[in-house]
Amino acid sequence: MKILTVIGARPQFIKAAAVSNVIRKKHNEILVHTGQHYDENMSKVFFDELGIPKPDYNLSVGSGGHGFQTGSMLIKLEEIYTSEKPDLILVYGDTNSTLAGALCGSKLLIPVAHVEAGLRSFNKAMPEEQNRILTDHISKYLFVPTVSAEKNLKLEGITEGVYNIGDVMYDGILHFKKVAEKKSSIIDKLELSKGEYILTTIHRAENTNNINRLKNIIEALNESEVHIVLPLHPRTKKYIQDYGLYFSHNVTVIEPIGYLDMIALEMHSKKIVTDSGGVQKEAFFMQKPCVTMRDETEWIETVENGWNIIAGTDKQKILDGILNFVPTMEQENIFGDGTAAEKIVNIISE
Ligand code: UD1
Ligand code: UDP
Repeated sequence: MKILTVIGARPQFIKAAAVSNVIRKKHNEILVHTGQHYDENMSKVFFDELGIPKPDYNLSVGSGGHGFQTGSMLIKLEEIYTSEKPDLILVYGDTNSTLAGALCGSKLLIPVAHVEAGLRSFNKAMPEEQNRILTDHISKYLFVPTVSAEKNLKLEGITEGVYNIGDVMYDGILHFKKVAEKKSSIIDKLELSKGEYILTTIHRAENTNNINRLKNIIEALNESEVHIVLPLHPRTKKYIQDYGLYFSHNVTVIEPIGYLDMIALEMHSKKIVTDSGGVQKEAFFMQKPCVTMRDETEWIETVENGWNIIAGTDKQKILDGILNFVPTMEQENIFGDGTAAEKIVNIISE
C-alpha cells in the first residue's frame, strides 16, 4: 500500500518519529513536509536526532495567515496527490498542515487517517479546535488516544472507523527517554540542579496574541522567584519583543531545543508549567506535576487524575500552581501500552 504522510510542525515530527519507521516495515510511505516550521531548531534537528525518514517533498510554505498557509499547502498537495496517487493520506494532530493534508485527500476521494482524532477543547476560537473538528469529519480512520476522545466523536455522530489505540507520543517517549539519557548533555550545559528547576513552554496563539494574557504569564514566572528554564518558541519571542515585556533573573530563556534535550529537561524538572498540548502529556508520562496556562485542556484525563491543574492566565493561579501544586493521586494508565504505532499499521493493513 502507498501511504502519503503530511507533517509540518514540531509536534508532528515527534509523532511521525514514532510511526513512520513502523509503517515502512510493511508499506511504501511518501513523506511530505509542508514547511510550516522551518527554522533549524524547529524542524531539521528533529529529523537529524530522531531518525525520521527524509521527506520526499518539502512544500516550503513557511509562515503567514491561516488562509495563506492552508491555501498554499492545498494547492501544492493537490499536485503531489494527483501524481503520486496514494492509497491513504495520514495526518497528525491539529495544525494547519493537518487540515490541508486531510482536506486535499478528502476532495480527491483518497481515504484519510487522522492520528490524535477526537480531541476537543470546546473552544472554537482556537485554530486547533477548528482544524481538529474539520479533519475528524472528513477522515475515514480516526485513531483516538484516549477514552474521552472516543466519546467526543460519538457526541458528534462519528462512530465508524474509530479506534482507541493509545497515544503515539507515549510510544515515542518510551523509546527516546533511553536515548536522551545517553545523549543529552543539556543539564550540565545549563548547569542545572536536578529536581530543582521548573520547565516552562509558551506558544499558544490565545496567549501570545493577547498582551494581557502574556503579561500575566510572564509576571507570574518572574514573581515566583523559582528557577525557571524556558525554551522560547519563535512566535512568543516575537510578541514579547513587540509588547516590550521582559524576564527577570530567575528565568533562563533559551532557544527552542531538540527533542532529546527537551526530554532530559522534562525528566529532571521539579514541575512543568506550559500551554502546550504535547508537553502536558509528557509531564504526565514523566510523573511531573503540570500547571496548564490555558482556560481548558483536551487532555482532561491528566486533570481528572490529579496531575495537571488548569490555571488559565490568572497571575495568582499560575503563581499558586508553581509554588504549591503537589499531586496526591496515583497515576492511572490513560495513554495505552506504548504500541500505538503498531496498532495503527495493523488496522490500516487489514
Ligand atoms: C503551530 C500550530 C499549533 C502547534 C504549534 C506547535 C497552527 C494553526 N498552529 O503554531 O497548533 O501547537 O505549531 O509548535 O497550525 N516561526 C518561526 N520559525 C519557524 C516557525 C514559526 O520564526 O520555524 C514564527 C513565525 O513568526 C510564525 C510564528 O512563529 O509566524 C507562528 O508559526 P505558525 O506555524 O504559524 O504557528 P505556531 O504558533 O508555531
Ligand atoms: N519540544 C521540543 N523542543 C522545545 C519545545 C518543545 O522538542 O523547545 C517538544 C515537546 O517535548 C513536545 C512537542 O515539542 O513533544 C510539543 O510541541 P509544541 O508545544 O510546539 O506543540 P503542541 O504539542 O502544543 O501542539
